[in-house]
Amino acid sequence: MSATTSARHRTTAAGPEGASVAGLLGEIADIGRDGARGGYSRPVFSTAELDLRQWFIAQAARRGLDVETDRNGILWAWWDRPGSVRQDAVVTGSHLDSVPGGGAFDGPLGVASALVAVDRLRERGLTPAKPLALAVFPEEEGSRFGVACLGSRLLTDAIDPDRARTLRDPHGDTFAEVAARAGLDPRFIGPDPEALGRIGSFVELHVEQGRGLIDLGRPVAIGSTILGHGRWRISVIGQGNHAGTTLMEDRHDPLIAAAAIVQAVRHAALQHPGARATVGRIVPVPGGTNVIASSVNLWLDVRHADDAVTAAVVERIHADARQAAAVEACSVELREESLSPTVHFDPALRHRLGELLPDAPVLPTGAGHDAGVLAAALPTAMLFVRNPTGVSHSPEEHVEDDDAEAGALALADVLEGLAGRA
Ligand code: GLV
Ligand code: MN
Ligand code: MN
Repeated sequence: MSATTSARHRTTAAGPEGASVAGLLGEIADIGRDGARGGYSRPVFSTAELDLRQWFIAQAARRGLDVETDRNGILWAWWDRPGSVRQDAVVTGSHLDSVPGGGAFDGPLGVASALVAVDRLRERGLTPAKPLALAVFPEEEGSRFGVACLGSRLLTDAIDPDRARTLRDPHGDTFAEVAARAGLDPRFIGPDPEALGRIGSFVELHVEQGRGLIDLGRPVAIGSTILGHGRWRISVIGQGNHAGTTLMEDRHDPLIAAAAIVQAVRHAALQHPGARATVGRIVPVPGGTNVIASSVNLWLDVRHADDAVTAAVVERIHADARQAAAVEACSVELREESLSPTVHFDPALRHRLGELLPDAPVLPTGAGHDAGVLAAALPTAMLFVRNPTGVSHSPEEHVEDDDAEAGALALADVLEGLAGRA
């Protein structure tokens, strides 16, 4: 791939018959299962995620869509009339990567629903007046390289490509190395005004990750806001040593400080109603049972509607972390990995979705999405589909087949309304 020529994937259109969201998700149900954690582990550019991308390319091709991979690894599948100009397009899509041990729906539901929405529109005999496209974004979860929504951030100039190239996965491989192995040319990742300029509006369908629709007894909602959120890495540096020969009073054990920091994180969040703060990953270095760690990395996730409150929570945690480290004669460093302010989806687009789906309630979300990153550059909106467990980022995440079909139908109505009939 070069800076100007994206990879194209051309195949003949066989045309799917009677595809359903549940049927499509069934086709990928065995890809990336995690036998140890349960659920799915589909890190970006892993064998599992690459297999899912191939599955999407094949599904899009079966529908006669023109599929390309851009220089940031975003897949685009175009439904447009021959010779028409790709601008003011109506785009829908989501992601195929997952958190470690995640559910089956976070990401793939939006991708499968987009494919089925195309089928529903074809069954209606629609020829869209505006170009329609389906998109699949890489590394939405940030579970491999630490920065969520990496693909949409690169596209929209929300992350410096030099920094992105040097992000490392847990094995120490850089994004540049891994992206190159996946077929991208890492020299050309970064802002892509041409690709961005083709999009008129973006609508992401996603499994709801809370209980809003359960409580309302409704299958589908329109998104209003995304809670502001960020990630920080806290590194506690101590002294690696022998677990048997080092007396308790002689230790500089960063894990003892880390334990206190985890408690401080919860305490700091509880001072601010609505704040959420989580340490979901702790990595002791070198990580041996009979080894006092030399350092520990704690990955911190903090969220609040008011970005100033998020900053205050992080500042409190930093102060408490310095104190906890000092008690163990350790030192501490805090580094911001990413920050996403609270997003209010485009009011005009949201209003239009409300006209197209008059029965759909409007709900906020505490989860991050590519639609939130893209919102800084163009009008975006979201649809949520009921999750009867209310649980996400867990194998317990679920969507009933009927709700999935209702979601795809709602998405088809929205795409038809936004794209219009030729
Ligand atoms: C992604 O799902 C996030 O909210 O972190
Ligand atoms: Mn998601
Ligand atoms: Mn997620």
